[in-house]
Amino acid sequence: MRSRIGRSATLALACLLIVSVTASRSFAQPKPKVPAPFTFEQKTRDEQGNPSPGKVTFDHNAHLAKGQKCLNCHGKDKPFKTKIGTSPDLTMKAYNEGKACGTCHNGKVAFSTKEMTNCMKCHKISTAPPS
Ligand code: HEC
Ligand code: HEC
Ligand code: HEC
Repeated sequence: MRSRIGRSATLALACLLIVSVTASRSFAQPKPKVPAPFTFEQKTRDEQGNPSPGKVTFDHNAHLAKGQKCLNCHGKDKPFKTKIGTSPDLTMKAYNEGKACGTCHNGKVAFSTKEMTNCMKCHKISTAPPS
């Protein structure tokens, strides 16, 4: 009698354990993987023939550190695709019209793409490993 109660108690405990492990797994949020800094393929000149001041490296962590969230940049009606080099409007003309990087780099949310003093904040040689 005693051993049977013991056995069913053990069985119940085992069931509870399995249920709770499964539940905590399915409720755990998957941690989004933050891409390493990457350098855009450089266009050497704009439409007017002005030379580019240099390569641009985009750093996800620098943006996350400033409080930006994935959904500010990726998702429906947001400027960027989650595959490097596939987003539209990756030109200075578009940014200066408030598209892509220019949705924030407009002098309001973040430093403007139009100020000569800001060019080198984005156009600098990458220190990131090649990706
Ligand atoms: C400030 C804007 C911004 C924020 C915030 C942001 N991203 Fe991105 N992300 C970009 C840009 C720009 C690209 C490159 C798009 C392109 O080249 O077309 C990119 C590309 C990616 C890629 C593709 C990388 C590859 O190797 O192809 C992934 C995955 C990604 N982001 C995930 C995330 C996740 C997850 C978050 C939140 C933790 C996040 N991003 C937040 C701007 C942002
Ligand atoms: C917010 C970041 C940012 C700022 C600020 C910025 N650029 Fe750019 N620029 C980019 C990115 C991203 C590209 C696209 C990748 C590439 O061609 O290297 C680009 C591309 C360019 C190009 C290549 C052709 C084109 O139109 O895309 C030129 C020329 C250029 N920038 C000039 C400038 C000048 C001049 C300034 C300052 C007045 C400036 N940029 C400020 C991010 C920036
Ligand atoms: C959703 C808004 C948002 C978008 C879109 C965005 N940025 Fe930014 N970025 C910021 C903010 C906010 C900062 C912090 C600087 C500030 O407040 O002026 C910043 C800072 C930066 C810096 C300085 C980072 C550092 O190391 O301190 C660079 C470089 C930069 N952005 C490049 C880009 C480029 C290139 C793009 C487009 C591919 C882009 N950003 C798109 C919001 C944005």
